[in-house]
Formats: sequence, C-alpha cells, structure tokens
Amino acid sequence: EVLAVRDDAIIATGRSDYPNQVNNVLGFPFIFRGALDVRATGINADMMLAATHALAELARQQVPDTVRGAYEGSEMSFGKDYLIPKPFDHRVLFHVAPAVAKAAMETGLARLTLDLDEYEEQLRASLGPGREVMRWMTARARRDSAKIVFPEGHNDTVIQAAARMMEDGICEPILLGRPSRVQEKAELLGVNLKGVEIVHPAACTDKRYEFAQTLFKRRARRGLTLAEAQWDLYKPIYFAASMLEAGEADAMVAGIEASYPETLRPALQVVGREDGIARVSGLYMLAFPGRELLFFADTTVNIDPDAETLRDIALQTASFVQDLGIRPRVAMVSFSNFASSVHEESRQMATAVELVRAANPELEIDGEMQADTAIDEVKLREVYPFTHLSGPANVLIFSRLSAANVAYKLLDQLGGADVIGPVLLGMAKPVHILQRGCDVEDVLNLATVAAVDWQARSAHI
Ligand SMILES: CC(C)(COP(=O)(O)OP(=O)(O)OC[C@H]1O[C@@H](n2cnc3c(N)ncnc32)[C@H](O)[C@@H]1OP(=O)(O)O)[C@@H](O)C(=O)NCCC(=O)NCCS
Repeated sequence: EVLAVRDDAIIATGRSDYPNQVNNVLGFPFIFRGALDVRATGINADMMLAATHALAELARQQVPDTVRGAYEGSEMSFGKDYLIPKPFDHRVLFHVAPAVAKAAMETGLARLTLDLDEYEEQLRASLGPGREVMRWMTARARRDSAKIVFPEGHNDTVIQAAARMMEDGICEPILLGRPSRVQEKAELLGVNLKGVEIVHPAACTDKRYEFAQTLFKRRARRGLTLAEAQWDLYKPIYFAASMLEAGEADAMVAGIEASYPETLRPALQVVGREDGIARVSGLYMLAFPGRELLFFADTTVNIDPDAETLRDIALQTASFVQDLGIRPRVAMVSFSNFASSVHEESRQMATAVELVRAANPELEIDGEMQADTAIDEVKLREVYPFTHLSGPANVLIFSRLSAANVAYKLLDQLGGADVIGPVLLGMAKPVHILQRGCDVEDVLNLATVAAVDWQARSAHI
C-alpha cells in the first residue's frame, strides 16, 4: 500500500516474502556467540551497537554465490531492497560475533581477551571441515604472493574472485581481456579491481609473436605450423599458458568457460609435464566433519589407466599429500578385496601396488581392495590382518576415471563432504583447471591451491 503511493519508500518488516526481512536470527545468536566467547558479564548498548554496525557493513559487501544460491531471485546488492543481510547468510557469524566480542573487551565486560583475527578465523573454520583446510592453505598462500594468470578475464565469476584475491592477499591475479571491458564489467558487478593487472593479448603483437615462435619450436615435429601457432596465440588459453611458460606468471587457473579437455590439451602442449612424469592426473580433497581429510585420484584425467599409469597416479598423489605435511596411507580401490574376485581390472590394481612398492618402498600402500574396506579400520584389522596399512586409508586411488569421478561427486552432493579441487598433478608448472560454471568460492579455492603449489615448487628448487 505504501509503495502504491510512494515508490521511493524503504520498507523493512519481519516477513520473509518481502525484501529486508528483519529477523531475530541475525541478532541474538551472534551477539550471544561473541559475548560468551569472551565470557562477558553482561550485554551492554555498545555490544548491541557493534552488532548493528557489523550488519550494516556486511550489507554493503558483495554477496557470495553460496548465499545467492539460497535466495534465488532476490536483490542482493546494497540498496532499498537489500539494506540488511539475509537471515541465513553464513558470514553474519564471523562479522557480528567478533564485533560484539571487541565491544565487550573495550567496555570492560569481557573476562577473556581474544586475538580478534584469530577468533574470526576460528569462527570461519567452525562453519565446515572444508573451510578449515582452506584456512591453513590460505594462510600459506599469503606468505608469498604468486602471480596467477586467468585467461577467462571477462568472466563475471573470475572478476569477482580476482577482487577477493586482492582483498584477501591470496595472490596477484592477472586477468586476460580488453581492459575497458573488464573494468566495465567490474563496475557493473560492484567490485574493485584496484591493483589487478589486466593484459590484452590482442594488443600485445610482439609478445604474441614471441610466444608463437616458442610454441612452434616445441611442436613443429608434432604437426604444428608457425601460422597455426600464431593463430593459437590469439586464444587466451594459449596466451596465458605461454605467459606461465615464459615465467611472466607463476601459475595459471583456467577452464570456467570450457570443458576440462579443452583446457588441459593447450596446457599440455605449451607447458607440458614435469620431467620424469609420464601422465598427469587429478585429485580432489574431501573433508568430512570429524574425520581425517581424504584424497581421491584420478578424478579428472586418465579415463582407463594401465598399471604403470596407476602407479604414477599413486606416487604423485602421495607426494602431494606429503607436501601438505600429512602421512599418506594409500589404498588401490576396485570392486574386490585382495583377489576375492579375479578380473583383469582387479589384477591390474594389485600389479600397480607392486610397481609402487618397487618405486617407493617407504610408502604405505595396499590393495586391491573395496572402498569400504579401505576406510574401515576394524574391517581392515579383523578381516585382512595381513594388510600393510597401519590405519584406514586416507588416499584412495581408483581403478578408472568413471569410478573416481562418480564417487567424489556423489559424496559432494549426498554425503556431506566439502570437496576441494580439482588439483592437477604432474604438470611442469602450476596449472589448475576449474570445473565449468563453478562459483566464486571454487575459483578462490583453486587459486589458493595454485599459489601453494607454486610455493612448494619454489621451495624444492
Ligand atoms: C587428457 C585428455 C584431454 C588427453 O586427450 P588425448 O586425446 O589423449 O590427448 P591428445 O592425443 O590430444 O594429446 C595431447 C598431448 O597430451 C599428452 N597427454 C595426453 N594425456 C596425457 C596425460 N594424462 N598426461 C600427460 N600427457 C598427456 C599426449 O601425449 C599429447 O602429447 P604430444 O602431443 O606432445 O604427443 C583426455 O585423456 C581426456 O579427455 N581425459 C578426460 C578428461 C575429462 O573429461 N575429465 C572429466 C571431467 S573433470
């Protein structure tokens, strides 16, 4: 009724079917969280005002896709229809509770003094096991800033993620694209790209020529002509991979607008595999509440691996896990337990176990075994006491791409896992490939993985 007479009226009510729902859930839980965490003796006006200011500030921030997804169709940028965060915006926890805790400490009601940055991090971690993994990866990425090139610099999600990377100090993103168009899009999205380098390949004639020469040299005996190489360099993915190859970027993250093979092939052609690695492969990290982090491979590259490829997948994955400071216990998983069902596929897994042992006798590995055996400590100990695993496996290597890919996707959708990845293993330089159409959080996570990958390699040099 009010809107019928005044279209500039700002309306906020308790109703969930109108914009600006003023819901208790935005206030009480987080005021109490902050107050309890500093063991406050009471709640004063300063603490309530601090909560109010925190909500007002949050309403002005960009809304992540995870929240947008939950409120499809509603306005989500600061304005008359979005004055207050949505009731189920998970960010309210780590915005409001630290503000309340701070006010309690400043006004003498707190009996505990907290380091507020650390407290905020703890609150973020409490939201889910995947966030905990990303928390320490992010802290590691921040130690030294990697330059990460994104060929899909015009993509809205990439632009939003790039702004967050700068803000959070995860890396220095380089976006490929026409600068005026990228900036225009950033403005429309309401994000600030200050400090983000934007490179326009079409305008870099000399560079394109130089990169085409290098690609031609590399692939002349694989059927590529110079004219084709020059043509390829107009494609952002080739230009970005060439920047990485030439040392103008430390890592590349790509693939949000393409299929996985469409992104991987150019990367293999320009950057190639690490010395001594025959096949690259991909893994996912799966985080479940209250249990150890799991690693699944190969979830992305080798469709029908032979025993040698399976050996390489196991060795690369184990080495990645070790670099994270975790001791790998590897299970080669298939449909049978230690030859309970003899078939070419199960035999191949058992052969791969022997090959891995020959290559790295120190590594804990066993199989073939079924997936439930691999992760069930009691079953392993009681039914298969001869196993070489000292505990349930934390690394699962699957016999085929379809099994690995289906397993992680179902656990993501139905099993309550937070999945992180895909991490590409075995490339000569850090290249990581996004799933087509993924969200801002996924881009941030993979950029963080790429930055940590670059740091780990720099440390090995
Ligand atoms: C990875 C993939 C793209 C390679 O395709 P392909 O048709 O076998 O590759 P090509 O014949 O075009 O080979 C391109 C180059 O990459 C190399 N290559 C292919 N697979 C490789 C691997 N796993 N590791 C390292 N190099 C590989 C080839 O040897 C070739 O090198 P060369 O040209 O220097 O001789 C293909 O295996 C694939 O599509 N995998 C599944 C990807 C997928 O759909 N994943 C699921 C979604 S996440």
